[in-house]
Amino acid sequence: MTLKHTGFAALLGLLAASVSLPAFAQPQSAPSSGVVLQNTVTGETLDTSQGKEGGRDTAGVKKFLETGENIYLEDKSCLRNGQSLFATSCSGCHGHLAEGKLGPGLNDNYWTYPSNTEDKGLFSTIFGGANGMMGPHNENLNPDEILQVVTWVRHLYTGPAKDAVWLSAEQKKAYKPYKEGETFSKDEKGQCKPLE
Ligand code: HEC
Repeated sequence: MTLKHTGFAALLGLLAASVSLPAFAQPQSAPSSGVVLQNTVTGETLDTSQGKEGGRDTAGVKKFLETGENIYLEDKSCLRNGQSLFATSCSGCHGHLAEGKLGPGLNDNYWTYPSNTEDKGLFSTIFGGANGMMGPHNENLNPDEILQVVTWVRHLYTGPAKDAVWLSAEQKKAYKPYKEGETFSKDEKGQCKPLE
């Protein structure tokens, strides 16, 4: 074999290697098993296919169920929806500003269940309920709506930034405690379509 041929063979080898790379990479790019959501009180695994139809194929829910990350945080279109869903499903017991009423306050840094400091914990409490009057809400809210409520509850927070576990370091720097009086318009731009 001449040197020229060797070079050519090496080049072919390289090409073959790069062509076959995607095949090697495949096992890692297989769908991730995602986060495990557990009932806040019993620890039982929650099945997010159960309950109100729809709201399972949005980018927000997919990302959330895969990684536990909530990409709706501070998105005004999602806050608008979350505000309205919270008013109809939660504020009767938890208060208009989540300041606490029949149910505990959700706008401070005290949590009966510390799992609620993470969005997957808060989502699980809403989806599967907790004790007594805090029943499961998966029959009247679909997963996308639950994520919007989570987003609104986080927005209502008035405690210290250091305890806002759900915020990234950058979001903590920009954090301002909630003040009443904010309004959202029907055509807020963002990831969440207006509620029907
Ligand atoms: C019928 C009244 C009622 C409604 C409606 C209700 N809750 Fe509750 N909620 C309660 C009570 C009572 C508790 C305390 C239960 C416990 O400690 O297990 C509670 C507990 C919670 C907790 C746990 C708080 C902590 O400190 O760990 C969260 C989070 C929560 N509710 C969120 C919500 C959200 C969000 C909604 C609306 C989708 C909602 N709740 C609707 C009564 C209610």
